[in-house]
Amino acid sequence: MTLLAKGRPTVCTVDLAALRWNFQQVRERIGPGVKVLAVVKANAYGHGALGVAKALADAGSESFGVATLEEGIELRAGGIEAPILVLAGVYLEQLGELVECRLTPAICEAETLKQLEREARRRGVTLNFHLKVDTGMGRIGLRAEEVDSWLSELGRLQALRLEGLFSHFSRAESVEGSYTQEQLQAFQRVLQRLRSAGYDPPLIHLANSAAVIALPSAHFTMVRPGLMLYGAYPSPEMASQVTLRPVLTWKTRVLQLKKVPKGSSISYGQTFVTQRESLIATLPVGYADGYHRLLSNRGEVLIRRRRAPIVGRICMDLTMVDVTDVSGVTQGDEVVLLGAQGEATIAADEMAGWAETISYEIFTSIGPRVPRGHYHSEGGETTRG
Ligand SMILES: Cc1ncc(COP(=O)(O)O)c(C=O)c1O
Repeated sequence: MTLLAKGRPTVCTVDLAALRWNFQQVRERIGPGVKVLAVVKANAYGHGALGVAKALADAGSESFGVATLEEGIELRAGGIEAPILVLAGVYLEQLGELVECRLTPAICEAETLKQLEREARRRGVTLNFHLKVDTGMGRIGLRAEEVDSWLSELGRLQALRLEGLFSHFSRAESVEGSYTQEQLQAFQRVLQRLRSAGYDPPLIHLANSAAVIALPSAHFTMVRPGLMLYGAYPSPEMASQVTLRPVLTWKTRVLQLKKVPKGSSISYGQTFVTQRESLIATLPVGYADGYHRLLSNRGEVLIRRRRAPIVGRICMDLTMVDVTDVSGVTQGDEVVLLGAQGEATIAADEMAGWAETISYEIFTSIGPRVPRGHYHSEGGETTRG
């Protein structure tokens, strides 16, 4: 494929064929009647929301999940017609735009429900909403124990339709352990209570990626995968249960090559001093791009299909690597920061280990200065995302 950025060569390429493959892995794990809500919040985990959502719509995703109203508007403006659920709450002053853009709110507390009903009536529209239940995540949503107090509110609704009921697991990376089971049971109790009161929302969803892969009893009528679509495993053990393909490659090119004598200090603060005559490559990427500063003197990059260590502190815009042991390096050589180069790979999990974080944060920290380009590894157009 062609290089995407005409200027600085630090770019992310996003392989839509790999994305499609991963979506197919979701499909193969759920029943034929179960729908998919593809989680594309936070710029599709840094992969470029619109390009990803279009590709997933094409692959058959029935709906999408975003965190904010703004993210939903971006998808609508870009031509996504499928239902879009705003997962992370809405504010009362946003209700007008929510209705206008046909976005589905996740309702977490009673006051928003009442206001939304009023707004929908005023506009003469009917609006679907999903009720978010807190079964143990301790974040947003009505507490599962309080469902009875909501039944009277639900009974008063005329302009709003309870389309969905959902909750979220606290142990997002694994389904092992009793806490996940307790959450599942609490969710089932809420569902039963609603049904016995005469409410039967068609979209019941609880499963994130880990539960899609390993907890079929949590699939209900819809699943909500995020991470696995982007080719990362919720936990290493899951690699034996499903084969995912990494979607994103973050790469750059050598900006400058410099031979320095033994005893040379590299970067801020003299945290690395060469122990031999060394060949140091400077790369045009830094922490302002989301290249974590914790990778300083710890992380590695791929160059000429070999690993080279990061030396000295990562700067705002530049990073140095020691390429003394990699033969044939020249200025302008491709350097892969995340992803594969030939057989060599740096997975998001490995980088997350260096940066003392999780793969979700690695993906979502890649900054707006890094252009995303979507392409199809099995042929097809390249577009800027
Ligand atoms: C409410 C909700 N549902 C689904 C997901 C997707 O989870 P995962 O990326 O683990 O599949 C997230 C991600 O944070 C979430 O917050």
